[in-house]
Amino acid sequence: MGSKAKENAARAALNYLEPGMTLGLGSGSTAEIFLELLGLKIAEGFDVRGIPSSQQTADIARAAGIPLIEIDQADHIHLTVDGADEVGPEFTMIKGGGGRLLREKIIANASDLMVCIIDPTKLVETLGAYPLPVEVDPFGYTITAKKVFDVLKNSSEQSPQINLRMTKTGNQPFVTDGGNYIFDCACGAISRVRQIAARLSAVPGVVEHGIFLDLARIVIVGTEEGADILEL
Ligand code: 5RP
Repeated sequence: MGSKAKENAARAALNYLEPGMTLGLGSGSTAEIFLELLGLKIAEGFDVRGIPSSQQTADIARAAGIPLIEIDQADHIHLTVDGADEVGPEFTMIKGGGGRLLREKIIANASDLMVCIIDPTKLVETLGAYPLPVEVDPFGYTITAKKVFDVLKNSSEQSPQINLRMTKTGNQPFVTDGGNYIFDCACGAISRVRQIAARLSAVPGVVEHGIFLDLARIVIVGTEEGADILEL
């Protein structure tokens, strides 16, 4: 699915903006299209400010002319617009393909409303075809990997594979904006999503996992021709 679908999803998200809003700004290629469109609106005089979920989003938002504030300066976040790697039943989601899941989740959870923008390839009946990102503290990460493996082995149909995410050059671990590592966990269909989410959260060393529950209330599915709005 081409970037036209992502662009149409991002464009449709502009309809949820109101002047004066403080916005959570997601990460990833779809969110970046939204940033470009938002920058054009701001250049026409639209008054909003953003809280970026990653250093990369901050850089792109600044270049697009979007005023930014620190999350700790915000007394209210009205709306977060962000992409996803998979969206399943009840808008359960896998996020973190770009390695920004912790800050994305903090911001989405603090927002009045999260609007998720995706192309149709991201809509699934069961989460898990996309490897689940799990962000972990580097301290003791090999021990944490075994604990994460045990959680996923006991809750999924196939034996999970836990891969430490590496940088593009492949010779050192990818490090998140928060200084953590990411495990990409290929575990196949995740049928008991809420149970797995709770069990992963209980593992010492797991900083956050990429299962997003009860956060997005609107999912915009862009297509080549337009966008479908799904609401819970
Ligand atoms: C980053 C994310 C992204 O939202 C997710 O990976 C989707 O990215 P894209 O819009 O490039 O397909 O969770 O951590």
